[in-house]
Amino acid sequence: MTIRYGGDYNPEQWPREVWDDDVRLMQRGGVNLATVAVFSWARLEPRPGEYDFGWLDDVLDTLHAGGIRVDLATATASPPPWLAKLHPETLPVTQDGVRLSVGSRQQYCPSSPVYRDYARRLVERLVERYAGHPALELWHVNNEYGCHVSRCYCDVSATAFRAWLEAQYGSIDELNRAWGTAFWSQHYDSFDEVEPPRTAPTLGNPTQLLDFDRFSSDELLACYLAEVEVIRAGSDVPITTNFMGFFKPVDYWKWAPHVDVVSDDTYPDPADPDSPAYGAMVHDLMRSLGGGAPWILMEQSPSAVNWRARNAPKAPGQMRAWSYQSVARGADGILFFQWRQSAAGSEKFHSGMVPHGGTETRVWREIEQLGGELRRLSGPDTGIEGSRVPADVAITLDWDSWWAIEQPASPTTVSYLEVLFAWHRAFTSLGFAVDFVRADGDLTPYRVVVAPAHFVATDAEVSNLAAFAEAGGTLVVGFGTAVLDEHLHVRLGGYLGEPLRRALGLWIEEFAPPAGPDLRAGGGGTTPRVPIDGDVLGGAAMGSVWAEFVRTGDAETLASFTDGALAGWPAVTRRAVGGGGGWYVATLPEQPALTRLAERVAAEAGLERPEAVADGSDVEAVRRGELVFVINHGPDDARLLIDGTDVLTGAEASGSILAPHGVAIVADAQLS
Ligand code: GLA
Repeated sequence: MTIRYGGDYNPEQWPREVWDDDVRLMQRGGVNLATVAVFSWARLEPRPGEYDFGWLDDVLDTLHAGGIRVDLATATASPPPWLAKLHPETLPVTQDGVRLSVGSRQQYCPSSPVYRDYARRLVERLVERYAGHPALELWHVNNEYGCHVSRCYCDVSATAFRAWLEAQYGSIDELNRAWGTAFWSQHYDSFDEVEPPRTAPTLGNPTQLLDFDRFSSDELLACYLAEVEVIRAGSDVPITTNFMGFFKPVDYWKWAPHVDVVSDDTYPDPADPDSPAYGAMVHDLMRSLGGGAPWILMEQSPSAVNWRARNAPKAPGQMRAWSYQSVARGADGILFFQWRQSAAGSEKFHSGMVPHGGTETRVWREIEQLGGELRRLSGPDTGIEGSRVPADVAITLDWDSWWAIEQPASPTTVSYLEVLFAWHRAFTSLGFAVDFVRADGDLTPYRVVVAPAHFVATDAEVSNLAAFAEAGGTLVVGFGTAVLDEHLHVRLGGYLGEPLRRALGLWIEEFAPPAGPDLRAGGGGTTPRVPIDGDVLGGAAMGSVWAEFVRTGDAETLASFTDGALAGWPAVTRRAVGGGGGWYVATLPEQPALTRLAERVAAEAGLERPEAVADGSDVEAVRRGELVFVINHGPDDARLLIDGTDVLTGAEASGSILAPHGVAIVADAQLS
């Protein structure tokens, strides 16, 4: 096995004679895997039921002859225009009732039986024809499910939503109870009266909104599973579909068990200094979704994208540094969108591995360099492929909480992702590896589990978290946790359900989010903040996003709010149980204070902070298997402080200099 290297290959955009050049260049660039046919439906089935596979045979044979393996897409991501002509009801409808048109991509209603049927027939033909092709390495189902159309409000979707609800609740009485329809005269007499949450006069029913989020994710999953079933019937080649990092509309915990290998598309902004830290979090999620197994970076850009308002190119070395960041955090494949930069169409200004300028370009040289390096690094000698990233710290991630805490009519405006990012960054900036977990998953491999803003919690989740703390683990619960049950009913009698209240030694009396004028209307200018103070935070600091009146029982207060209505109330508490116990954090401390807190939590959990491996200002170090990856994201040179051999250069690591975007992969690492 070698580390996979390659990208989306769209040869149908080019004359036949270019294909041979493509393969020659792929060989030169170290490419060993090409993703083919992602957007080829209209070419494969130019008219309903009339298939044309001749050209794809040629593509696969040409790649195979050149020793390039194929990740074959099922081509169902963008139906041909004839489907809309024949069946306009397959076009998706927005919340406002606008039916989307052809002329772009992904214009299908996920619940449409007609779409699913045409998709199934196409996949049957593809499997029949290519299951035995010697180039086939991976099936790539659809593409980025939900990236443009994650939900549909048409009448077909409404019917499917009703069926989904009936399966969930069994009776309309149960639905009425769960949705709390005694409120605002929303009582339903039968499922027929229920609608998707289309644009309405004012605030919608929260449980209806949440159920529609769940339903929409499930409908896309059903599309995926329908294709998987067809592939499985005729092929035992592994199957994937490309995820999109922290993608709110799709609950990847539910999807992950159904992919043979997790794959991800990620496009951090080269102009954003937070991108390396955010990228680290995304990669950690991908590893966690697969239970720690290696994953594939299915798409990244060689340089600029074309879909931001301003599209910065990647700086020299940045693509390579970010690629190694993925490998460090568990990727066994580095692929790009796309191989040859398009000459026409809406992505012609999106970079490609082979740019418009051809091979006498910086981008191509960097692609070729990385391909050569990955080829040399592949194989048993370095031991990269298949190796794991051990983590002692985990953060809970929960799509229900994400959906619910960002609903309107909540205590305040929260970006769930911002809160997760702050916690992830606090631990990773200290050098700790971090996994993501489900709150009802197996927490026993971890010493520290953080549950930030876990707004919606089932009894099983609350018990699992509490049991972790009672059994000697270190549990850190962040504000806004376990406020609601899975139907979004408030847990009465003080927020935080039993037995979490007991494990943490406190309960929450009232929310008091920092606020300013017109926050909801986007006014106010600055982020409202609230002062906090305590040694665990490194002294006086500011909190933002949320704050609460916390009533402690047998928890000790380690930091407090210091101003306004909250003055003197606890901001950070701890209830010790054996070596572990339960921490509670009632606001989002600013990053340096949160990092201090994370350091203290880790220390009290018996975790030693890894020593610095370099002296730079923004150097990332990750242990994967026997190797330590060191990546300099900072603006200045960094000097390595770690003994061992850099497998990229064969040189002794200690004392060597990493320029900005420089990377070292150190074997036999010892801190000097
Ligand atoms: C997504 C898609 C690709 C392409 C890229 C552009 O990842 O899967 O087809 O559109 O975005 O960044």
